[in-house]
Amino acid sequence: MDTQLRVFVVVFGVLVGYMPFSIFCRYEPNWDSLDKRPLPGWYDEVKFGIFITWGLYSVPGFGSEWFLYNWQYKKDKAVVDFMKKNYPPGFTYADFAAQFTAEFYDPDQWADIIEASGAKYIVLVSKHLDGFTNWPSNVSFNWNSMDVGPKRDLVGELATAIRKKKDIHFGLYHALVEWFNPLYLKDKENNFKTRYFPVDKTIPELYELVNTYKPDIVWSDGDSTSWPYWRSPDFIAWLYNDSPVKDTVVTNDRWGGVMCQHGDFWTCHDRFNPGHLMPHKWENCMTIDIGSWGYRRDTNLNIFLPIEVLITTMVETISCGGNLLLNIGPTHDGRIIPIFEERLRQIGQWLKVNGEAIYGTKPWSHQNDTVTKHLWYTSKKNSAGGVDVYAITLDWPTNGVLQLGAVTTATPQTQVTLLGYSNPIKYKQDTKGLLIALPFIPITIMPCQWGWTFKMTNLKRI
Ligand SMILES: *[C@@H]1O[C@H](CO)[C@@H](O)[C@H](O)[C@H]1NC(C)=O
Ligand SMILES: *[C@@H]1O[C@H](CO)[C@@H](O)[C@H](O)[C@H]1NC(C)=O
Repeated sequence: MDTQLRVFVVVFGVLVGYMPFSIFCRYEPNWDSLDKRPLPGWYDEVKFGIFITWGLYSVPGFGSEWFLYNWQYKKDKAVVDFMKKNYPPGFTYADFAAQFTAEFYDPDQWADIIEASGAKYIVLVSKHLDGFTNWPSNVSFNWNSMDVGPKRDLVGELATAIRKKKDIHFGLYHALVEWFNPLYLKDKENNFKTRYFPVDKTIPELYELVNTYKPDIVWSDGDSTSWPYWRSPDFIAWLYNDSPVKDTVVTNDRWGGVMCQHGDFWTCHDRFNPGHLMPHKWENCMTIDIGSWGYRRDTNLNIFLPIEVLITTMVETISCGGNLLLNIGPTHDGRIIPIFEERLRQIGQWLKVNGEAIYGTKPWSHQNDTVTKHLWYTSKKNSAGGVDVYAITLDWPTNGVLQLGAVTTATPQTQVTLLGYSNPIKYKQDTKGLLIALPFIPITIMPCQWGWTFKMTNLKRI
């Protein structure tokens, strides 16, 4: 080999060695290839996020965010009567836009509340199935939050506020279908043999959202029409190969008939909480208001889940390998109402004490206990190379003993502590499991409420 060639070979070899893996590994636009992508690590670590459903439906605030559909397609009597009684004849859904005022929308205040909840990501609705975009989309003329209503870029403002928080990831929800978009209805009439709507509206919108706001999550929904119509794999391949967020972005499974089959994480169905391990990373998306994602005014105290249920759901979900995505619905004028705020701050209070058993954990060999009800496990590698096991009990037993039937491998070195409480905890290992002698703790110095975590170190490795 002459010197020039030799130099070339060496330089080329070094360059190749330093090239990022992704240059060689391009995902192809088919599910087989897309399914091979490893889940970006952050998503499994963070465990808990806040879903924010906000849009024009927050103006009538009646029934749910499906207001338009319920009114004009289903002709739901309650909604039709509500309109007759409260609005002049001929009032259209578009007329609500003028009342979408958002005058109290303070994205920094929202970010403060979200941070206080302990959530490490958010998913903001950028567009729901009514087609109204919460950002100045260049394919949603006069049907976006900059042209009408708030006259603000609601998405961009929250992205900026959330990013000031450093450790909260910003994600976006986007609905594929728009119930009443004329292009969509035309494609529907053609049995989806034509693709005017995805080509001119939905797909450009997705690219625009990702290029403009660089979300770490693209949370797709409104996928009642199957994926060949949307050509979802083409968009996801771009997301993974070439988008500005290709190394960090994760996406869900609502891309047109592939729920619980494809995507970085599975949502399967709303409020999915299987109670056992799944063969794939998954997320439980659920609401504090038990019946609506968007804000509604026809409500009462009983429809807001109490904190005990929210903590229980979080613990069940994370023990089984899921993430919890908890929804709130702000008002048309931009407020997070105090009951949502209170729940979020309560969760944050709980996580301050128990977060060690939540963030960055993996499921343990058992998810729940074999004997004691409402007792769930998580685990985490410790700095000594062993595994710490966390038992989270949602009841504080009244007989002074907590039986961990699933824990049979205590060693003389095993230590048990109660998170947030400094004294060591006494225990006994016998054939019935690990029996924890609960300390008597006056209520005023109880480390937390609603759920308590016992941490076990130096169990025998199995
Ligand atoms: C809309 O925005 C996207 C992304 O910012 C851009 O690529 C595209 O050219 C724009 N389209 C029009 C019609 O302005
Ligand atoms: C643990 O979970 C399984 C599966 O959901 C359930 O069948 C079992 O009853 C639970 N165990 C206890 C002690 O509650």
